[in-house]
Formats: sequence, C-alpha cells, structure tokens
Amino acid sequence: MSSFSKGVLAGAAASAVFALLVAAGIAVSGAYDVAADSPHFALTQAIIGYVREQSIEARTGTIKVPSLSDPKMIAEGAEHYDAMCTRCHLAPGMADNEMRPGMNPRPPELAKLPIGDPAEQFWVIKHGIKMTAMPAWGTTHTDEEIWNMVALLQKLPKLTPAQYHALVAAAGKHHDDDMNMGH
Ligand code: HEC
Repeated sequence: MSSFSKGVLAGAAASAVFALLVAAGIAVSGAYDVAADSPHFALTQAIIGYVREQSIEARTGTIKVPSLSDPKMIAEGAEHYDAMCTRCHLAPGMADNEMRPGMNPRPPELAKLPIGDPAEQFWVIKHGIKMTAMPAWGTTHTDEEIWNMVALLQKLPKLTPAQYHALVAAAGKHHDDDMNMGH
C-alpha cells in the first residue's frame, strides 16, 4: 500500500473516532434536547422519515392483502378505530383535542391523507413504530381484527362525518344483536 493510501486510511479512521467522540460528548453532557416541544433539525427529520419508509417497505412485500370490501369488515373496523385510534388520529368531523398538538411526531389525521397502501397500513398497525407513540396493536389483536381496521382506513378519507358515525353505530348494533342471542 502506498504511503498516500495509508495516509487516507489513517485520516478516515481519525475522523470516524472524532465523530464518535463528539456524539458521545453530546450524549454525556446532556446537550441533546429530548423535549417533545423542541423540533428536530430538518436533516434529522428527513433521516427519520427515510429510515421509516425503507424499513416498512422492506417488510411488507410478502404480505397478502385479503379482500377489504365486505361492509361487515368495514363496520367492525370502524368500531375498533373509533374506540382505539381517534384520540391520536381523529376521524371525519372530529375536532382536535388537547393531547395531539403536544405530540412529536404528531399523529397524522388518517381521514385527511391520501388512501394508503393496505399492506403498509396492516404492518404499521400490527407492529407499531418505535419512539413515536404508535403502538403495536398485534400484541393484543388478531390479524383479522387488524385487516378490519385496514378495510375501514381504505374508506375513511371518503367518509362524511354522518357516514362515519353510521358505520360505528352499525357495528355496535351488530354486537348488541350478538349479545341478545347469548353469544
Ligand atoms: C397514542 C397515539 C396513537 C394511537 C392511539 C394510535 N396511533 Fe397510529 N400513529 C401514531 C403516530 C405518532 C404515528 C406517526 C408515526 C411516525 O411519524 O412515524 C402513527 C402512524 C400511524 C399510521 C401510518 C400513517 C402514515 O403515515 O401513513 C397508521 C396507518 C396508523 N398510525 C394507524 C393507527 C390505528 C389503526 C390505530 C388504532 C388501532 C392507531 N394508529 C392508534 C400514534 C398513535
């Protein structure tokens, strides 16, 4: 190896050690602000977003999406969504609350996003996203229950507040019927 390439290697190693020392120094000194109300640097934000996208995409290719058009699925999904998701993600016609503005990252209003990829929605609902407050619902729910919520999400951006409430009520009625039948 020429003395020039040895010099380049030594320089690269020294820079890597220096970067690690700076990172350790920031960690040890407490200079990094973990406060939720202190925004990320634009670069950090961009890197987090990129890592999330790549990570989810790498894990969803083999997921088989079932038919999501059954009205009963959508109604069951609406009932679960209304009970478990609206405090963070809201729903058509729902006013903002006192928790969401202080969250970092802020949970997206799912009714206001373009309709998402069903396999990715299934994966995110089942596994959650680290360090974001998005829980892994697969810990307590079956795949079937999660697909019901995906079926709802595929319709959500097109629902009026009245249609949304009717769906939630329809599922509730179905449950009452079940109970009257002694299930
Ligand atoms: C405690 C708050 C909280 C609750 C409750 C919650 N989420 Fe989330 N969710 C989040 C946050 C925060 C994100 C954004 C994560 C990020 O920025 O990477 C998110 C992201 C998502 C996404 C990805 C959206 C996108 O960017 O395309 C989906 C889908 C989702 N949540 C569905 C649900 C469903 C369905 C439920 C209910 C079963 C639910 N969430 C309950 C906080 C929550």
